[in-house]
Amino acid sequence: MNVILGVGGGIAAYKAAELARALMEHGASVQVVLTAAAEEFIRPLTFAALTNRKVITDLFAARSAEETLASSVEHIRAAQENEVLVVAPATADLLAKFAHGLAPDFLTTLYLAFTGKVILAPAMNTNMWNHPATRDNIETLAARGNYILPPDEGLLACGTTGAGRLPDPARIADAVMTIGHPRKDLDGEVLVISAGPTQEAIDPVRFISNRSSGKMGYALAAKAAARGARVVLVSGPVNLPGPYGVEVVSVRSAAEMRDAVMTHLEEATIIIKSAAVADYYVANPPPQKIKKTAARMSIELDPTADILAELGRKKGDRLLIGFAAETQNLVQEGRRKMETKNCDMVVANLVTREGAGFESDENEVTLVLRTGESIQVPRMSKFEVADKILDQALKLRLALYSRT
Ligand code: CTP
Repeated sequence: MNVILGVGGGIAAYKAAELARALMEHGASVQVVLTAAAEEFIRPLTFAALTNRKVITDLFAARSAEETLASSVEHIRAAQENEVLVVAPATADLLAKFAHGLAPDFLTTLYLAFTGKVILAPAMNTNMWNHPATRDNIETLAARGNYILPPDEGLLACGTTGAGRLPDPARIADAVMTIGHPRKDLDGEVLVISAGPTQEAIDPVRFISNRSSGKMGYALAAKAAARGARVVLVSGPVNLPGPYGVEVVSVRSAAEMRDAVMTHLEEATIIIKSAAVADYYVANPPPQKIKKTAARMSIELDPTADILAELGRKKGDRLLIGFAAETQNLVQEGRRKMETKNCDMVVANLVTREGAGFESDENEVTLVLRTGESIQVPRMSKFEVADKILDQALKLRLALYSRT
């Protein structure tokens, strides 16, 4: 997807760099346009390095007549070549110019010439956000079909607390991909996806867990929502914002995850178990903190219920996808788990491989399919891997369950 990222001159302009990076991770190609005010906050070079593209700056900053002419044609070309225009941060000034059709610089001129989808992520001081002029402009812009991502509440750079913070860049990127995605091939599907680690309490302050970051499951949820699915994301404790348009059910332990997944089983058409569920838990953790002594201690652990195996028994003709985190014999182990847990696909990855797997932004996996095939997915961002998994899921379901 071709995206123009317009950056306005507000303190949140630095977050636009993270947004550019997040959009690139999604596989988008990104053209950045900076207003003159934005250039006061962040240099074009930052964006050029992140996007591998020359950054467009102010329309009338060109010096010669030829340059002025070339750059005035450039905004029409940029308007035609891109499907989505996202403006983040959209300042009060930019919103006013957009609402009133003023075009004193490149970004505002581009806005008028743009016929694709426009997403505005305002960020400003709370009083500016609440001012009737801004409220009217927002209403006008929304009524004209612009997508408005409302600012978050919180501590602002000016020291006050209230609405005005730019939402998390990862969430804006999700919204851009969801709104701008031309593919809606998961329309009508309900995906139940589990993600992240689980935490098994040892006492009120300690727990057993693992290194799963939840990034792969969150990427799957974001992509599935972008492709038109309704998505329920059952998530263990992670440090990630809920993807745009996804219902997040937060859980802590394997037992809670099991209950949440089973609650949504009936409505699911595709279930993906990407969570790294603890295999053992402490059956009766003491109500008080365990005190240190000089003696060696041991903890008795009981096996947790295998959620994927239970889903395998109850799934009917729902498509069931499991994950296999391995340190050796990738395909054999993937196939074994697929058979024993009755999955239709297992996404197997070597967690020991550097730069892929746990905690990484990238992954490199093998898709082991019930049809007997195994498909190698080379290293790419977790968002791109998510798309590959969803592509295969749709093909597989057609092959397995819709032969008639
Ligand atoms: N899984 C599950 N419930 C558990 C344990 C695992 O649903 N109690 C699921 C995971 O979500 C994943 C798949 O089973 O989709 C495989 O998890 P993995 O940890 O790789 O395998 P295990 O079954 O735990 O087997 P092993 O420890 O032998 O590797």
